[in-house]
Amino acid sequence: LHTTIYPTADQASQAVAHELASIIRQRQAEGRNCVLGLATGSTPKSVYAELIRLHREEGLSFYNVITFNLDEYYPISWSALQSYVRFMWEYLFDHIDIPKENINIPNGSIPKEEIDTFCKNYDAKIDSAGGLDVQLLGIGRTGHIGFNEPGSRLDSTTRLITLDHVTRIDAASDFFGEEHVPRTAITMGIGTIFKAKRIILMAWGEGKAQIIKKTVEGKITESIPATFLQTHPNVGVILDTASCAELT
Ligand code: F6R
Repeated sequence: LHTTIYPTADQASQAVAHELASIIRQRQAEGRNCVLGLATGSTPKSVYAELIRLHREEGLSFYNVITFNLDEYYPISWSALQSYVRFMWEYLFDHIDIPKENINIPNGSIPKEEIDTFCKNYDAKIDSAGGLDVQLLGIGRTGHIGFNEPGSRLDSTTRLITLDHVTRIDAASDFFGEEHVPRTAITMGIGTIFKAKRIILMAWGEGKAQIIKKTVEGKITESIPATFLQTHPNVGVILDTASCAELT
């Protein structure tokens, strides 16, 4: 895996935001849309902050951008504090000029019987938009990407999954107690993510050092889904000095 290390998470985030901005602008010059796969959680917040700054101060427009988010808790109301749809509006969409109809996020409040169809349509919509130009990823302590927990297959598609116990512990503070963390989520599959032309995996802080070592240097295994990234032709792993501490 191609790894780039920055002194701080902020510097790393700026580099990621500038890469996205240059692809967006390049597509604008070609008169084409740019399809971005987006992540939530603490990791991409500073990337989104830099994109907002580029929009406000350097004229970066998102008129040609189509987005697909990786995942959403299920069930969850869109207005819940912890919902990823709310996160995305708060940290990015409310502050840029992306057309509303270009935004796609798995729906955490559809009836259970509609989930399968929703997921099939989500993958089909990514394909018909031309496929993901870039997919942003964070990584969980279980080695999940999106919410593809251990046991997820390389060819998995968008679906309802059961969250790992470790993931629910990590989300407990957001939900004011583990018992309030949803037990399931809708996530793009590994196969969905793998169709992206480029994947950018980001990790900051010492808490990610162990899982980054396994992801970059470990053997490829379903029990650490992020290790599958070793088989994708165009992955950039972007780290700060703390998250790369265990690499040899
Ligand atoms: C979020 C997502 C998750 C997170 C991961 C890391 O959309 O897909 O895989 O990227 O759980 O979360 P943070 O960034 O909060 O450490």
